[in-house]
Amino acid sequence: MRSHGYQHLRMLRVVVLALLALPQATVSLKLREVSVPAVVIKGDDVWLNCTYDLEKETLYSIKWHKNNVEFYRYIPADNPPGQKYELDGIHIDLTRSSEGNIYMPTTDVNSEGIYRCEVSSEAPIFRTVKGEREMRIYVNPSTKPQILGTKPHYGIGETVNLKCQSAPSRPAAVLKWLINGLEVEPRSNKLRRPPDVEYPAGLFTSTLELTFPATHDHFIDGKMTVQCEAIISQAHTLRSEEITITNSTRASAATSSDMDTMKDGPKISGGKHEYQVGETVDVNCTASKSQPPAELHWYINDKEVRPDYLVPRPPITYPNGEESTVLGLRFEVKSRHFQKSEMRLRCTATLSEVKKMTSEPLEVEIAQQQRSDLHVDQVNAESVHGRSTASGVSIHITKSLLIALALLPWL
Ligand SMILES: *[C@@H]1O[C@H](CO)[C@@H](O)[C@H](O)[C@H]1NC(C)=O
Ligand SMILES: *[C@@H]1O[C@H](CO)[C@@H](O)[C@H](O)[C@H]1NC(C)=O
Ligand SMILES: *[C@@H]1O[C@H](CO)[C@@H](O)[C@H](O)[C@H]1NC(C)=O
Repeated sequence: MRSHGYQHLRMLRVVVLALLALPQATVSLKLREVSVPAVVIKGDDVWLNCTYDLEKETLYSIKWHKNNVEFYRYIPADNPPGQKYELDGIHIDLTRSSEGNIYMPTTDVNSEGIYRCEVSSEAPIFRTVKGEREMRIYVNPSTKPQILGTKPHYGIGETVNLKCQSAPSRPAAVLKWLINGLEVEPRSNKLRRPPDVEYPAGLFTSTLELTFPATHDHFIDGKMTVQCEAIISQAHTLRSEEITITNSTRASAATSSDMDTMKDGPKISGGKHEYQVGETVDVNCTASKSQPPAELHWYINDKEVRPDYLVPRPPITYPNGEESTVLGLRFEVKSRHFQKSEMRLRCTATLSEVKKMTSEPLEVEIAQQQRSDLHVDQVNAESVHGRSTASGVSIHITKSLLIALALLPWL
């Protein structure tokens, strides 16, 4: 054992293994990448690719699991080497799949889950490396949200009672109402949110009701526009590499077995390879660039860290508007941070793709003016419809053209 200047001060010597940062440090079977798309539109084809470096070892098997159930194995010694097992949501084309790379010509909602690839080496070493990634299946709504329940005419003071319904989607849409382009506060008492309806195909429709008495204030130039927006947030979480800190240098070479490499996952930087207890861990987690920016979280031994360990950092911005979020982690190493003599550090980045679809705007016009009720200048004479009624003002609702489908780019 090397002598170390701090050893007389500290009983414990800790070693940080930033394994991915040291690719040449160990010569043994290594997982290079588990590549599974994080978000797939239902019906799309996918590649599930598992790549590894055997180094000096011999391949025994490659196994793929979904939610801990094996559905594929590749054993060079078997004939044929690649075999698949029936599992809901798994559709493998064996003719195009080979070794760790699997081709699925289609997907369905049951394809959603955690995919794990395990690569094992032959005797006498029998090492296994594995990594997993989550795949979510999305279904975009096929049409804009619809406004239901409109009557052809409303009088001032009459209750406007509308219902917005989203087309089936996965995940469920979040709905919003806009009156004259202004969002109705989510907690407004004008809104009622019946439960989402789930269909057997794994799709959801959501409904949001809007109820309010029509008043003059709702009219601008004699018109009121009501619109509903459906927002589908397709969030997924990427994990960083995991950094293992042990209290013994002996463990250093062998702990590479369970690492989970993620190409577009967040990166940990600034860690040293060795720490003494009482020293300060001061590291940054940096997300891949994305728009909207990713949200970062730090974990010690799979538990989210205390807020006082976190150090906010300014994001890195790019000319095209994308951003890399940065979050620092700083704490003094204590022996209580160790579980079974090791401490694992990890960071996650959550990315969301936000898809918005807006209903056709409903234009509500004041059709008839009751002199005593209305300011004349509020009325747009050209848009006045209908006949005078004894009861006074009536409102004519017309549908005008659709506007927006805003799809924010992501990643
Ligand atoms: C996965 O592997 C296949 C076959 O080698 C290749 O054609 C495909 O581009 C790979 N896909 C990804 C995302 O790496
Ligand atoms: C973390 O990032 C900040 C910039 O945001 C930098 O000043 C600091 O040196 C970084 N720390 C480490 C440990 O890399
Ligand atoms: C270091 O690890 C060993 C072996 O797991 C354990 O017995 C010991 O208690 C650890 N020491 C400290 C200070 O955590």
